[in-house]
Amino acid sequence: MAKITAGVATSHVPAIGAAIDLGKTQTDYWKPLFDGFEYSKEWMKENTPDVVFLVYNDHGSAFDMNIIPTFAIGCAEEFQPADEGWGPRKVPVVKNHARLASHIAQSMIEQEFDLTLINRMDVDHGLTVPLSLMFGQPEEWPCLVIPFAVGVVQYPAPLGRRCYALGKALRQAVETFDEDLNVQVWGTGGMSHQLQGPRAGLINQEFDQQFLEDIVNDPETVAEIPHIDYLREAGSEGIELVMWLIMRGALNQKVVEKHRHYHVPASNTAVGHLILENPQ
Ligand code: DHB
Ligand code: FE
Repeated sequence: MAKITAGVATSHVPAIGAAIDLGKTQTDYWKPLFDGFEYSKEWMKENTPDVVFLVYNDHGSAFDMNIIPTFAIGCAEEFQPADEGWGPRKVPVVKNHARLASHIAQSMIEQEFDLTLINRMDVDHGLTVPLSLMFGQPEEWPCLVIPFAVGVVQYPAPLGRRCYALGKALRQAVETFDEDLNVQVWGTGGMSHQLQGPRAGLINQEFDQQFLEDIVNDPETVAEIPHIDYLREAGSEGIELVMWLIMRGALNQKVVEKHRHYHVPASNTAVGHLILENPQ
């Protein structure tokens, strides 16, 4: 059967992708950020999964104000990197495990999570930057990826509590798939950042550090954080953090924290990163 072995959380700032693509990772500005992902790349070599279920949000690339899905699962065979205004990133095409994606869609809808099924979609920095951070710059991504897009760009966004419950349903879905697969769940976005309005540039290190601690050891408390607190404490784009709760809900109550990294700033954003293993 398929098994969820680990969870990864990481911010997905587009400038991180540009720094990798333009060979700037060792500059004074970027080195401290990328140093925190050295362990992660080594860990990933030892723990390459068969499939990553990658929770992210689209930023007006595949979806716009015409269509705003709350929870959308990518069911196509593959997904091209999106053109976000300066040409698509020169990163590998993302290949799906379409049979597992279909199974997850069926199982989750039967568990009363009514997903939107996506058969054509380009994937933006929300998905490709985490892949680059964890895998570097390979010719091909070393595993299959199921894109799972969450609507956090336009309100109403889903509640943290709903995302946490969805993670639990996801686990049930994965564990009823008939192929022996090592599956990781990644939650991306965050941490505190605000890209707009009078508070643009807001970063709240105290909130972020508490979030990092609690999402590992007290996820139920994190699941109850209301939208207004994300907005006040973590800035308008801090709401991306609800996606980490899908990852966390898919793991055991008690997890092994393998790695934690926090760096401020990358572009306008506080970058947080966790690697959590399900005890075997
Ligand atoms: C930035 C961060 C994001 O999460 C994003 O989606 C776009 C921009 C930034 O810090 O510049
Ligand atoms: Fe974002």
